[in-house]
Amino acid sequence: MGKVLGIIGGGQLGMMLTEAAKKMPEKISKIIVLDPTLNCPAAKVGAQQIVASFKDENAIVDLANQSDILTYEIESGNSKVLKSVEDKVEINPSPETLQIIQDKLIQKKILAENNIPVADFFEIESLSDLKNKIPNFGFPVLLKVRRDAYDGRGNIKINSESEIKSAYDSFDGKSLFLEKFIDFKMEVSVIAARNTKGEIATYPLVENIHEENILRMTIAPARVSSAISEKAKQVAIRTMEVLKGAGVFGIEMFVTENNDIMINEIAPRVHNSGHHTLQSSKTTQFEQHLRAILGLELGNTELVYHTIMYNILGPKDFTGKYKPVKIESDNVFLKMYGKEESKPKRKLGHFNVVGRNNENVDHLLERVNKIKNSIQIVSINNS
Ligand SMILES: Nc1ncnc2c1ncn2[C@@H]1O[C@H](COP(=O)(O)OP(=O)(O)O)[C@@H](O)[C@H]1O
Ligand SMILES: [Mg+2]
Repeated sequence: MGKVLGIIGGGQLGMMLTEAAKKMPEKISKIIVLDPTLNCPAAKVGAQQIVASFKDENAIVDLANQSDILTYEIESGNSKVLKSVEDKVEINPSPETLQIIQDKLIQKKILAENNIPVADFFEIESLSDLKNKIPNFGFPVLLKVRRDAYDGRGNIKINSESEIKSAYDSFDGKSLFLEKFIDFKMEVSVIAARNTKGEIATYPLVENIHEENILRMTIAPARVSSAISEKAKQVAIRTMEVLKGAGVFGIEMFVTENNDIMINEIAPRVHNSGHHTLQSSKTTQFEQHLRAILGLELGNTELVYHTIMYNILGPKDFTGKYKPVKIESDNVFLKMYGKEESKPKRKLGHFNVVGRNNENVDHLLERVNKIKNSIQIVSINNS
């Protein structure tokens, strides 16, 4: 008999985990997600849903009672409640790791204590504290919220003295920290996995292009030397050794001007920069996560085809129901997430352009540019 898998969060990541789980019915017989949005993306592809906030204690206990194994696709679940239900259900990655990662300041401290390179940082306790600490780094600097940040909605770059107060005030009393601005050459990431037996596997290094702090495109493999890829892999493995728990982790990094690797942040879950694996690799990151938490052998992580993933984001000037998106092009795989409404910068879907004919990354980039220009998110009311 397969197990009942509980997932906190039923957005696109929960949806793609559900799809992967449905391909292993002998291991997983049922999927239940906890998500506040009625008929969330995961529910649309066959997960049962508990409709409740990610932090709702009763709902988390209910999910734990109904599940054999519990995991999450978002970091904002209630890690204290998760810790309290560890005796009822196996939770991976561990709530302890989730608790560390949920607070970016604690996350940074633990990485730094373990000699994993991160940008220098300071805890900030007040406006005057901020003013006093900025000279340690000089302008520009980044002011960041410690908790519940995503897609750049938790970071402000302060460029000059005159911007300090408004940046501070805009965070409205939230706990903050200050980070040195890194003039990086490239942003990259490693999708790493550890199974419950402690075995670790990493996918090849990918390159991430952000626009306005939100991931726009992932290029697999990253356009760096093999020495840099190898260095990033070693940093990823050391990072995995610091964190506890099984599952897939998305490890975001910077490549500095000196070709050093610095960790930006870690996600204890499947990651947007791993969506290329749906077509590029023998094992998708979603299957890999399930293999990891089920204690199976990890799958092959080799990159079979050069692939570029491009995110389809809601346009800035429009909120509402939108017309279906279509792409007709060879070796291009569109994945829409079933979200009924577009909102500015909302992740609505992505497409992968796959180099099945041995195309190099430059050629794939040309194809991405053509396709992205042909996609329009427009209101269903516009005829
Ligand atoms: N110290 C830094 N120096 C320069 N750019 C940064 C720094 N920290 C973050 N960024 C930029 O902001 C983006 C979002 O920041 P991140 O800390 O990853 O927050 P989020 O949780 O929103 O993903 C990063 O991908 C990077 O482009
Ligand atoms: Mg990030």
